[in-house]
Amino acid sequence: MTDATLNFYDKNAEEYAAGKGAPNPRLFTFLDRCRPEGKVLELGTGGGVDAAAIIKEGFDLDASDGSAELAAIASRRIGQPVRTMLFNELNAVGIYDGVYACASLTHVPRSDLRGVIEKVYRALSENGVVWASFKAGAEEGSDALGRHYNYLSQDELVTLWAAAPWRTIETEVWLGGAYDRKPTEWVAITASK
Ligand SMILES: C[S@@+](CC[C@H](N)C(=O)[O-])C[C@H]1O[C@@H](n2cnc3c(N)ncnc32)[C@H](O)[C@@H]1O
Repeated sequence: MTDATLNFYDKNAEEYAAGKGAPNPRLFTFLDRCRPEGKVLELGTGGGVDAAAIIKEGFDLDASDGSAELAAIASRRIGQPVRTMLFNELNAVGIYDGVYACASLTHVPRSDLRGVIEKVYRALSENGVVWASFKAGAEEGSDALGRHYNYLSQDELVTLWAAAPWRTIETEVWLGGAYDRKPTEWVAITASK
């Protein structure tokens, strides 16, 4: 992970957190696939809007973010601690029914992504489910705000995720918006252990 990405989120935490009003509508399809009231890990919670919705739906949430500033904001929003944790610091084994990563693993350098996917696989219990969304693209690089993106294609993402022995891997592609207000092609991976 480049420092520039986390520097951006730390420096712009208040503004970034204020920019997301409603939870991701795709969150609820993911939650429907998790064990009811199960334990969910969120990677890169940002301002904690989706985290609040996960808790409201009755799940036991372990929210995390690599930006200490955003973790503090999210913690205030959800009324419980949010761990400041980098993706590559995830060392849990078999304890989560779900892992949710909305627009966060899209920042992992291509060369590190396989290792992070393996950590997510290890962290899930049998029958656990992960949902992760990515900005699609052809070449890894930085955006105009200085954030690093892996910008992978749908096929490349599926190939990378298939490095772990998931029972199923599904993808969804859509055109949507983003914090930088640019039209964005998104790819989401849903994988079941
Ligand atoms: C585009 S934001 C998405 C935030 C939130 N999930 C949402 O949908 O609003 C990406 C998030 O990933 C976090 N992040 C970036 N690099 C990280 C890293 N190496 N480890 C952990 N979190 C990281 C950022 O701090 C930020 O909160």
